[in-house]
Amino acid sequence: MVPELQKTTVRIQQPERVMGLIRAIKEQGGSKLQVISDFDMTLSRFGCNGRRCPTSHNILDNSHVISEDGKKKLKDLLHHYYPIEIDPNRSLEEKRPLMVEWWTRAHELLSQQKIQKGDIAQIVRESDVMLRDGFNELFDQLHKYNVPMFIFSAGVGDILEEIIRQANVFYPNVHVVSNYMDFDDNGVLKCFKSPLIHTYNKNNSVLQGTAYFQQLSTRTSIILLGDSMGDLTMADGVPSVENILKIGFLNDKVEERRGKYLDAYDIVLESDETLDVVNGILRFILMET
Ligand code: C5P
Ligand code: MG
Repeated sequence: MVPELQKTTVRIQQPERVMGLIRAIKEQGGSKLQVISDFDMTLSRFGCNGRRCPTSHNILDNSHVISEDGKKKLKDLLHHYYPIEIDPNRSLEEKRPLMVEWWTRAHELLSQQKIQKGDIAQIVRESDVMLRDGFNELFDQLHKYNVPMFIFSAGVGDILEEIIRQANVFYPNVHVVSNYMDFDDNGVLKCFKSPLIHTYNKNNSVLQGTAYFQQLSTRTSIILLGDSMGDLTMADGVPSVENILKIGFLNDKVEERRGKYLDAYDIVLESDETLDVVNGILRFILMET
């Protein structure tokens, strides 16, 4: 059915259930389908040749517009809070206030750096960001079959939109909800717009009336893509879900986190920098029979 599921990176706890879900989504057809995806470390790569790739925040943190002192402070925050974010032994309740702290402090530091709106394109161009292999096919297929793609990101919206624009895949079926920068009349960053989206509040609490999902109420089949345990609630605002297939990229601390990921995600992709499996499943679902 989907040869890509034979890849050695694929782990599935309940294969029959997964095959049943994929078959059911295919039966419903492309007109009932929507894709809900995280951005950083899900659509973008986690690593390349043994080096970490940047998140949308890191792209700003490492850019030439940030002072040396600012860079050091932002790196210190990352080294303190990232291990907490991915710690499988802490509860979400424990993590949530700490994530608010991280994002708030990082956004305050970034807002002191006089970042210009006009510099964003160059900052992205000069960064090491990479979309996962196969991103072209993913965006092209969804566009071709008019399947809405909702990118729900706790990263920086202005940056991630620029990444997909520079990759020439920002099609009209792509809709982004994320943290956006607020610029003053001179185009200088003054703060970030609310509501603050962090890893563990990606649910309808930040989707303001979930107008987007209401519009798509007939799209009852969902493919959800994420890399964090916080991404699992991204479809909570969808009014009537019939079939939801959750695909999780397990990028970091693979051994420690495997058990939790296998319990939560239908398909777990371990250290897989490609979108092969997602594309294979979509090809099968959308293929005319
Ligand atoms: O798009 P996504 O929701 O994955 O974006 C959030 C990611 O950005 C988190 O996984 C977190 O590790 C990272 N982050 C960062 N710097 C910050 C805040 C979050 O790199 N200041
Ligand atoms: Mg992510």
